[in-house]
Amino acid sequence: MASYHLPVLVDACTALLADTPAGVLVDGTLGGGGHTQALLDRVGATHRVVGVDRDRDALAAARARFGDAPVTLVHGNFEDLPTLLPATLGAGVRVSGILLDLGVSSWQLDAPDRGFAIKHPDGALDMRMDQRDDAAPTALALIESLEAGPLARLLGEYGEVKAAGTIARRIKEAAAAGRLATTGDLAREVSAVSRFVPDRKAGKIHPATRVFQALRIAVNDELGALDRALAAAPDLLVDGGRLVVISYHSLEDRRVKHALRLGERGPDLPPRMPLPAGWAPTWRVLTKKSVEATAAEIADNPRARSARMRAAERAPRSTRRLA
Ligand SMILES: C[S@@+](CC[C@H](N)C(=O)[O-])C[C@H]1O[C@@H](n2cnc3c(N)ncnc32)[C@H](O)[C@@H]1O
Repeated sequence: MASYHLPVLVDACTALLADTPAGVLVDGTLGGGGHTQALLDRVGATHRVVGVDRDRDALAAARARFGDAPVTLVHGNFEDLPTLLPATLGAGVRVSGILLDLGVSSWQLDAPDRGFAIKHPDGALDMRMDQRDDAAPTALALIESLEAGPLARLLGEYGEVKAAGTIARRIKEAAAAGRLATTGDLAREVSAVSRFVPDRKAGKIHPATRVFQALRIAVNDELGALDRALAAAPDLLVDGGRLVVISYHSLEDRRVKHALRLGERGPDLPPRMPLPAGWAPTWRVLTKKSVEATAAEIADNPRARSARMRAAERAPRSTRRLA
């Protein structure tokens, strides 16, 4: 179980979450439970931990790992914390901390049948984090449902894929011809056209890496879930409670940075225009710059290279009544 997933930036994020009022800490992305274990080790006497994951396999592995440990395991999407937490803790209970360690786990990437990774060419093109979620399309169903134009836009937006139009047309042709069933098929079709496309990163990463990333983000509506969780978090936390988010690409990190800054300073307005009446800060940002892994951590865990951590503290709710 120790090899399920090596957690990143453990000391930095557990230190931030430990320094909160006694109460409940929520690990919204339980995965293999590495961060949850570190939290239990650090705050066992003052806080209890609730671990949430939308992947039932992660929950099953965590159940085996944690046994009798004081952690409550919940299946669900972190965007649904506003309903999951009352159902778990009781109505009106606010929590002391929320951790979101975004994206997929090493275990999901290493599971040959989940379709997340180029290195397992026989995986079905699935990529759903919750394989029993009928509302989420598989990657293949998503490809089949989109015309080449929207597919190209998706690849460009979520994967920053160069020559997305050429790649999208090739993928659609392959799907129509029945040549697209597995991760290996997708990687081969992308490679077939990417050879001819100048790419700053060619030679460093497989030409299909960013195509896989884009499809995974879309299949799981990862950015939508993040936006909704960022919007909901201030209401879920006690005053002085903390939100810690670890992102792995700029699309996520930009959203986190923007949401925290908006909660601290309010909307960007023309000079001398006052903030909307009744506006009050929800966040005090704790990380003016994102926190990154040290070279030593990256040497041990290459996945830490792209990790960016940001954190904020719930600003005190005003007790003043508005006239
Ligand atoms: C990077 S891993 C977390 C690893 C974990 N911190 C650890 O130490 O093992 C991300 C996990 O979050 C889950 N996940 C991603 N998006 C989610 C969401 N919107 N709601 C709930 N779980 C999510 C994934 O299924 C995966 O297990």
